[in-house]
Amino acid sequence: MGSLRATSSGVSGVTATKASPRLPAPASDATAVITGASSGIGAEFARVLAGRGYSLTLVARRGDRLKALASELERANGNRVDCLPADLTSAEERDGLHAGILAGGRRVQILVNSAGFGIYRSFAGSDRMRELEQVRLLVEAVVDLNARYLPPMLQRASGALINVASTAGFQPLPGNGTYSASKAFVLAHSESLAEELRGTGVTSTAVCPGPVPTEFFDTGEPLLVHRIPRIFWCSPNRVVTDTLRAVERGRQTVIPGSRVVRAFYAPTRTTPRRWTMIVARRLMAGELARGES
Ligand SMILES: NC(=O)c1ccc[n+]([C@@H]2O[C@H](COP(=O)([O-])OP(=O)(O)OC[C@H]3O[C@@H](n4cnc5c(N)ncnc54)[C@H](OP(=O)(O)O)[C@@H]3O)[C@@H](O)[C@H]2O)c1
Repeated sequence: MGSLRATSSGVSGVTATKASPRLPAPASDATAVITGASSGIGAEFARVLAGRGYSLTLVARRGDRLKALASELERANGNRVDCLPADLTSAEERDGLHAGILAGGRRVQILVNSAGFGIYRSFAGSDRMRELEQVRLLVEAVVDLNARYLPPMLQRASGALINVASTAGFQPLPGNGTYSASKAFVLAHSESLAEELRGTGVTSTAVCPGPVPTEFFDTGEPLLVHRIPRIFWCSPNRVVTDTLRAVERGRQTVIPGSRVVRAFYAPTRTTPRRWTMIVARRLMAGELARGES
């Protein structure tokens, strides 16, 4: 396959205002839709894209957070920032989001699928509805939004789909099984789209961060991250700047962070399963024990 191509380290060379042909230039009739914008990586995408002159549409459930971020960005950059609170696990609310975007009168030129959460316990010890919610958010909502906004991008031969997957999608993770399977789905979905879109002017980029310090850890309380040295972590800002650089360079997949981070995570994608499963089982011992209690 050979499709895993990480960015080079650092973000030098990315200018603040000039977008390359692969990342559509900011346009007055267009918006960049960012899901999960109330926190973490999504909020950082909002800050960086606003700084580069894009009008934004912020999506998450917590409307108060979205409004506060929108005011901050409008004050700082003077660009238009719309807030459309929605629970993306709900098909009806996704219809409402789409109606809101149409009513705003702007076409979607960039779509960042960042909303997500993870469950860190054994499947048998988990809550059935919460597992389903996870799949609806990480898989169904991503497919739905990409399917809605890709055709108009193709008509204009311009657009960027940015799908936040995870290094968790590189191998199955017992104790985090539905999450790692969902992220493997996002990775395969995004990479096959990238191939389908080759030469169309529209890009699809899968983002595979390792640990990033955000509220993600308050929601899912993964224990494994405490065993991963800080040197293998990546800041939200680095995730975003490395991702935008990868889009500009036409990369299908990016592991954001330093060379050390990439060297640590990239091999797990091609290591034989029986070996990764031995490591994963040890790494996830705490999560698995949680499900048994
Ligand atoms: N942090 C990491 O270590 C890490 C590593 C690899 C990949 N990722 C992925 O990166 C993405 C962003 O995570 P993060 O680290 O930024 O976590 P975060 O700070 O917890 O942000 C998660 C975002 O998702 C939104 N969200 C959750 N449930 C939602 C729902 N039902 N409908 C709409 N929005 C919803 C949250 O907003 P509301 O609560 O307001 O709805 C929040 O804005 C996720 O897809 C995650 O899987 C994270």
